[in-house]
Amino acid sequence: MQLIDGKSLAAKVQQNVAEEVEQLKQEKNIVPGLAVILVGDDPASHAYVKMKAKACEKVGFYSITHNMPDTISQDEIIEIIEMMNNNPHIDGILVQLPLPKHIDTDKILEVIDPRKDVDGFHPYNVGRLVTKLDSFVACTPLGVMKMFEAYDIDLKGKDVCVVGASNIVGKPMASLLLNADATVTVTHIHTKDLSAHTSKADIIVVGVGVPGLIKADMVKEGAIVIDIGINKLDDGRLVGDVAFDEVAPKCSYITPVPGGVGPMTIAMLLSNTLKSAKQRA
Ligand code: GUN
Repeated sequence: MQLIDGKSLAAKVQQNVAEEVEQLKQEKNIVPGLAVILVGDDPASHAYVKMKAKACEKVGFYSITHNMPDTISQDEIIEIIEMMNNNPHIDGILVQLPLPKHIDTDKILEVIDPRKDVDGFHPYNVGRLVTKLDSFVACTPLGVMKMFEAYDIDLKGKDVCVVGASNIVGKPMASLLLNADATVTVTHIHTKDLSAHTSKADIIVVGVGVPGLIKADMVKEGAIVIDIGINKLDDGRLVGDVAFDEVAPKCSYITPVPGGVGPMTIAMLLSNTLKSAKQRA
């Protein structure tokens, strides 16, 4: 069993981004800029946004966070996005999800200029991803693909089971895997027999937010298991969606939580924002 070390891989990506930022500054006088819009006071969202801002600072980006109360109206959020769309110093716009219930998330995401959609959630970018055209791709699934690449894991013809069908993770993950010639099964909350699908898979990618959902008897011997879940238990421990201790001995590769996919998500946000800034240049 080999651990896939997302933490050190993410550090390498960040180092490369920092070097390219320096070059952009020197050669084109351009500083990549990221605008984050955070609504409400969900502690997890605040923690994620703080990590994103810190990472931006570390690689030399300009970043601003619009910290808005959850009483904000949909039109006011749209106004902020339009301001950022028109701001020449901003290359990436990220609206932290989830948004409060009175806000129509789909509507908000559609207002973001697709050229600044570093989260890859705009239907324009989603459509381009599905058709295998160059696009901004959602950061978490993109980070998983980088992990496969870094560990020379060949996806062609592999049976991959994606557990969870969200717009943020499961659906773009499935598209990327399909584009890489894997045979993809997507399971979700209404799947009749989850184990029937996971136990046949060469690779399992799970991101649903249910601690310990994937148990040893659901995993084939020698499988590769990618755990996207980040769950905080009552005792404060951070765990994934995989019962790590019992599953790990059966795997050829497995990602830990923390230190697996999480750091890669932030690294890909930086990488997408740099990509946008280079397109501006
Ligand atoms: N909420 C959970 N994951 C994400 C993400 O990748 N991007 C944004 N904007 N919100 C999230």
